[in-house]
Amino acid sequence: MSGPDRYAVFGNPIAQSRSPDIHAAFAAATGQAISYDRCAPAVDGFAAAAEQFFTGGGAGLNVTMPFKQDACAFADQLTERAKLAGAVNTLSNHDGAIVGDTTDGVGLLRDLRDNLGWPLAAQKILILGAGGAVRGILGPLLDELPQHVVIANRTVGKALDLAKLFAEHGYLIGCDYTMLDGQQFDLIINASGAGLAGEQLALPDDLLLPGGRAYDLTYASEPTAFLRWAAPRATASADGLGMLVEQAAESFAIWRGVRPETAEVIAGLRRFMA
Ligand code: ATR
Repeated sequence: MSGPDRYAVFGNPIAQSRSPDIHAAFAAATGQAISYDRCAPAVDGFAAAAEQFFTGGGAGLNVTMPFKQDACAFADQLTERAKLAGAVNTLSNHDGAIVGDTTDGVGLLRDLRDNLGWPLAAQKILILGAGGAVRGILGPLLDELPQHVVIANRTVGKALDLAKLFAEHGYLIGCDYTMLDGQQFDLIINASGAGLAGEQLALPDDLLLPGGRAYDLTYASEPTAFLRWAAPRATASADGLGMLVEQAAESFAIWRGVRPETAEVIAGLRRFMA
């Protein structure tokens, strides 16, 4: 089939996804001719929809909730970081072989380290939550050699499992929220779905060290519940909009071999959301 190479994002729901706008901006800025659609397969229909997309000549897919594990199983080959994350957000068609990768972790890192300029080496880091998103970000975070990473989760077993899984990559501790009393951190990353569920985690008042920073993996036009908690306590805080654009830039680079500039796209999206 002729025409521009075809890409899409699969998720359910998908109407809220900003990925088509982000990739259109990258394509325009780098002079790449691509098309990029959004699609919501049935929750049990990822493999069939992805098969149809790729046999129809599709070049690549982004994959978001709830399909990141399905995409992992669907791929013919996985990158090392996708294996470690146990999840895939980027599928690429290499002459019929589908390669699965994950760009979430590197996206977070680029935002924290390069865009925001926050220190990570030798820092005491707390992650709230122990779901799929955390599994995706732990590898790249530990590569920055923090002093230690504590994973706190409502279901403590999942935090302990993740700490065990990544034990050889750095110093990690799993716990539940009640065990945070008396602990203090340089950086707290919220990856818990509590805010999305309309709930506020009960966090100790002095959980952030003086000069500490707060990052929420989610984003919204209004500050999240976690960022409202952090506002009087943190010297700096940020939501996950930068990470969203950075993970997309990494996917674009994998597909097109060109790394797009992100600053303008992040600023444009921020204006749009306001
Ligand atoms: P994601 O891909 O965003 O990580 P997930 O794998 O479903 O999604 O994980 C959601 C995370 O948010 C989990 O850590 C979950 O805690 P549990 O493992 O105990 O379920 C956490 N979470 C969701 N709703 C929550 C709530 N109301 N209070 C506390 N934690 C919550």
